[in-house]
Amino acid sequence: MERLGEARARTLKLIEPLDDEQLNRVYSPILSPLAWDLGHIANFEELWLVQTIGGREPLHGELGRFYDAIENPRKTRGELPILRDAGLRSYLADVRERTLEVLAEVDLGLDAEDPLLREGFVYEMLLAHELQHNETMLQLLQLVDDYENDGFDLGPAAAEASGPEMIAVDGGEHEIGAPARGFAYDNERARHAVELAPFEIDRTPVSNGTYLQFMEETGAEAPLYWERDDGGWALTTMAGRDPVISAHPVLHVSWHEAEAFARWAGKRLPSEQEWEAASAELESVGQAWEWTSSDFLAYPGFEAFPYREYSEVFFGDTYKVLRGGSWATHASVMRPSFRNWDLPERRQIFSGIRCARDA
Ligand SMILES: [Fe+2]
Repeated sequence: MERLGEARARTLKLIEPLDDEQLNRVYSPILSPLAWDLGHIANFEELWLVQTIGGREPLHGELGRFYDAIENPRKTRGELPILRDAGLRSYLADVRERTLEVLAEVDLGLDAEDPLLREGFVYEMLLAHELQHNETMLQLLQLVDDYENDGFDLGPAAAEASGPEMIAVDGGEHEIGAPARGFAYDNERARHAVELAPFEIDRTPVSNGTYLQFMEETGAEAPLYWERDDGGWALTTMAGRDPVISAHPVLHVSWHEAEAFARWAGKRLPSEQEWEAASAELESVGQAWEWTSSDFLAYPGFEAFPYREYSEVFFGDTYKVLRGGSWATHASVMRPSFRNWDLPERRQIFSGIRCARDA
């Protein structure tokens, strides 16, 4: 139960400096107002734990449909009759109280018959869901003027200089995906062998400095949140004007830009299988979500669990896979098999680049 409490403390810490107006404000059509994320976190917990496992009625009748992420695209979320202000805060607390009651009644053991309970799946899912929404909230917080928070490092740590150094990975059979035991999402399974040709992959993600060279030589657009400033570049997140730091990993680039950068560098993006096969050797994972060349597809033997809308409805050639994790990603979410996905034009996510090439 302790980790759920820690995640909630992290969520509340993130919004601590904000007033209700800021929680309700629509800052961008591609990002939910924070009030929606908060209500959705509580509603997801209520749906899966209090209602599905605990068999209890929801606290607010039909309210849950406004927190359904598929039914309510981001651009509509500011208009929904969702909970706000004090009502929102008490919903978070009331659901949590009921969750703890239900958790005290159930067996989350290895042998639990219900796959939602076995090995604590539902507990791990709630925890991961809340922590992943913390990252979505941090995407929005980039747009909040003068946002400050003592509890968080609100930006990337300096990466090692991105030099030409690459790691060689042997060809042959590599095991990809999450093992059968332990928490993972449905899209990470089944673990399976893939045949890879030998390849090389950058030891570190691409830095701002290297990306700037690419921009200067090709006329490529600057990453999101960069603005010209006295002949240099400034980072304008949280309404700041701090100089762009060369050694930091480049962030907020689209898949198309990542792809064009890789070509300029005489390389290419790694496939997600290559990324995972190399992941044990990479240093400095966790600086940026790294775009891969791969479409978000089902692995062989995929079975939707616990609901189709988590992964299955996104499979196809519309979304590209990102691997790794960013400074905004909680450490417990970063595992070698974790697959993130987004539209290739998106830049509000903490997305960066690591290149590969054939050996
Ligand atoms: Fe969600």
